[in-house]
Amino acid sequence: MPEGTPVMTAASAATLPPSVTDLRRRLPADFAFGTATAAYQIEGAVAADGRSPSIWDAYCERPGAILGGDTGETTCDHYHRYAADADLLGWLGARFYRFSISWPRVLPEGSGRIEQRGLDFYRRLLDALDRNGVEPWVTLYHWDLPQVLQERDGGWAARSTAEAFAEFALVVHDALGDRIAHWTTLNEPFCSAFYGYAAGTQAPGVVDGPSAIAAGHHLMLGHGLALRAMRERRPDHRFGVTLNLSPVEAATAAAADQDAARRIDARRNRFFLDPILRGSYPADMVAELPQVDWEHLVRPGDLATIAQPLDLLGVNYYRRFVARAADPSGASAASASPAADTLVDAEAPAAAEPTPHVGCEDVEFVATGRPRTQMGWEIDPEGLTELLLRLHRDYPVPPLYLTENGMAHADEVGADGRVADPERIAYLRTHLEACADAIDRGVDLRGYFAWSFLDNFEWSLGLERRFGLVHVDYETQQRTPKDSAYWYRDLVAAETPRLRGTANRTEVLGAEHVRRSTAGVDPLAAPLQDLVTTACWGTVWERPELPRPTRSLVTVSLLAALGHHDELAVHVRGALRNGCTPEQIAEAVTHTAVYAGAPAALAAMRVVVATVREASPQDGP
Ligand code: FCB
Repeated sequence: MPEGTPVMTAASAATLPPSVTDLRRRLPADFAFGTATAAYQIEGAVAADGRSPSIWDAYCERPGAILGGDTGETTCDHYHRYAADADLLGWLGARFYRFSISWPRVLPEGSGRIEQRGLDFYRRLLDALDRNGVEPWVTLYHWDLPQVLQERDGGWAARSTAEAFAEFALVVHDALGDRIAHWTTLNEPFCSAFYGYAAGTQAPGVVDGPSAIAAGHHLMLGHGLALRAMRERRPDHRFGVTLNLSPVEAATAAAADQDAARRIDARRNRFFLDPILRGSYPADMVAELPQVDWEHLVRPGDLATIAQPLDLLGVNYYRRFVARAADPSGASAASASPAADTLVDAEAPAAAEPTPHVGCEDVEFVATGRPRTQMGWEIDPEGLTELLLRLHRDYPVPPLYLTENGMAHADEVGADGRVADPERIAYLRTHLEACADAIDRGVDLRGYFAWSFLDNFEWSLGLERRFGLVHVDYETQQRTPKDSAYWYRDLVAAETPRLRGTANRTEVLGAEHVRRSTAGVDPLAAPLQDLVTTACWGTVWERPELPRPTRSLVTVSLLAALGHHDELAVHVRGALRNGCTPEQIAEAVTHTAVYAGAPAALAAMRVVVATVREASPQDGP
């Protein structure tokens, strides 16, 4: 655990809301938890080790493009701090970490020459994750196209970029595929295509409808080409793509509003879902955009390539859209949502920027009065359940993973060093409940990734919008887990895979021992008790998915009971490193008395005291 990271104490554990356990019980035992980031948003070090500029470096240079004039130049400096960040992920305890690979680090010329130092960075990161028992989940493209491909070919508007992407994907897969089992090709092609090429509010900042459609097609083509090539190499890996999807509804039953909703739904959802899952573009949208040369754009075989079978579909959910046809007189504008799109400043007038929804210039969005996040987005967990149910009902979907969900809030470190963010805890809890509701109704949802692990560079909105579970002070690079990080840590620790099997006497005794030695001293005690009542103690000991502090306490208590004092000392040191307090360790050992008698407990306690003193002489127990 990183130095200075506060540790959950027995006292604070006692004040935990019971909802953590209740919520955990509502989700499947093998539900996968994770956190997510993206390369450009956290890495910084934009000129290190041969990396070439990406379209975001270029876009950040445009005057006024990024709120506050921020850039991704340093952001969280994760490129240099990855090891401590990986330790922090280990402390958090979620099984997966979803991060993206920077294309210009690996192929600085877009294609061709491989920059080994770029690949080496990701291998170091993988090692650090591995040391912390965290599984990698890779996104190949999270928006940082090499600028050279933008300048040379026009970026995603050009077909050649799809082919270059497949090359990049295979280079990364060949180099790191021995260590990564979960791969998503693209993150949110909607944003890359429609904010990047129609609204111009994201890199590369182009404003041209047909280019946006071309970019969308080439992104999906690149996805299909890459996925096919990677799967040929490793059919055992799990491949998918992440889409940002939203429920879209009409503001009223009026025909014009219904039609507005249909058109927005086509651009945001069906334009991606239909080709990827069904192998066709939505006919209504194709017919509505005659300015697009569809025949030239979509070549024979493209749709079959795009519709590669998926092992998983990543869904990013942030909000719903309520659409209506704008009053041509402009009279309705005052009541329309000020944050019409996901990436405009909440304070900016909706009409100030071109719409990303090509061919929907006459559509505006209506606020529903729900509370909003710092992004101006309405908080709407029911929308998530609706969305998941729709996918389940209307599309032949593979297993689903919520690959992003979270909220921005103006979090600050308080005088006591704590970051209190009850709003985010409520946000995460209600959205996970929405996941549970969908699962109850038959949706095959397998996991949830909180956006984001760290506060980071929020694209056009710069460093001011804070999405992290962990607060980042950009001046000092100090990381401070927010209250939501403790909450999430607690939730993921409550993973309760029930091991079945016949318990023999030893196992029952072991389980009882574990139950007593962790009760009241660890926030995981309750779920762990559930686990151990049906589990063999040895198996508990060896379950890698249990959080390290828990395994440490279990191990310490068992070694104390067995009287293996040399090993006990080793594991006491490990427990301290894993964030257990001396009090927790001592408590775990006291219960030795129940099984081995008071003298054995006393002997074990001496070992604990001596080891703790040695580890931290100034503040030993
Ligand atoms: C998504 C992006 C992610 C982050 C969140 C807030 O659209 O995938 O990088 O910016 O929004």
